[in-house]
Amino acid sequence: MNKTLRKAVIAGNWKMNKTPSEAKALIEEMKPLVADADCGVVLCVPFVDLPAALEAAKGSNIAIGAQNCHFEKSGAFTGEISGGMLAELGVEYVIIGHSERRQYFGETDVTVNKRTLAALDAGLKVILCVGELLEQREQGITDEIVAMQVKVALQGVTAEQLSNVIIAYEPVWAIGTGRTATADQAEEVCALIRNTVAGLYCPNCAAALTIQYGGSMNAKNADELVGKENVDGGLIGGASLKAADFSVIVAAASK
Ligand code: PGA
Repeated sequence: MNKTLRKAVIAGNWKMNKTPSEAKALIEEMKPLVADADCGVVLCVPFVDLPAALEAAKGSNIAIGAQNCHFEKSGAFTGEISGGMLAELGVEYVIIGHSERRQYFGETDVTVNKRTLAALDAGLKVILCVGELLEQREQGITDEIVAMQVKVALQGVTAEQLSNVIIAYEPVWAIGTGRTATADQAEEVCALIRNTVAGLYCPNCAAALTIQYGGSMNAKNADELVGKENVDGGLIGGASLKAADFSVIVAAASK
């Protein structure tokens, strides 16, 4: 990370874990542990947990996010939630394009782009996820895949809106597998993302962009990962469900 140029952010992705009462309890436990953080702290919780999470985090340095939003403002989209609905609750962030959405729920680069535009339009900050599959890495096309995902996802996003975007590099083979990318692998792709954004916008826009690593990041490996110039924090799954582990990761990004 390079804090002179951009903000480091540690975001938890709780996925489909914790009921509203459990969310409240976990945030209460986390609050004192992360109160002195010198980085952004975000928790992305299930939709139904949002009111309880917002209430529990009130007055603290923890920002609350959702894990997805639809690209239309309203309409016949059973089971979906719009960006405007989230914004009215007081939600600040939303994860878009997580690999589990792409893998299990048919998200494509095009729908990720539409959702990104809709979320930004609603005033939300977007944590935009990109990353290659294991076979793509083995085929040596990681750079091409990730650059393409970034380019398509950011179609129509203005330079001004880009300041409300965080990109999370999450190699799919590292998510929930315990198999972390090495710090060098993370650095290499995060730097590639920054170069891609510099080409699409401007070098200064790219330098100011927060780029996270995600995929089995934990209390043990966080230090080394955020020690890399282009790794500005992390998107944390499993380890964000334990207050002690999450706070160690926040501390690593606060150095
Ligand atoms: P993990 O998940 O930390 O459990 O690997 C990361 C993510 O999916 O965002």
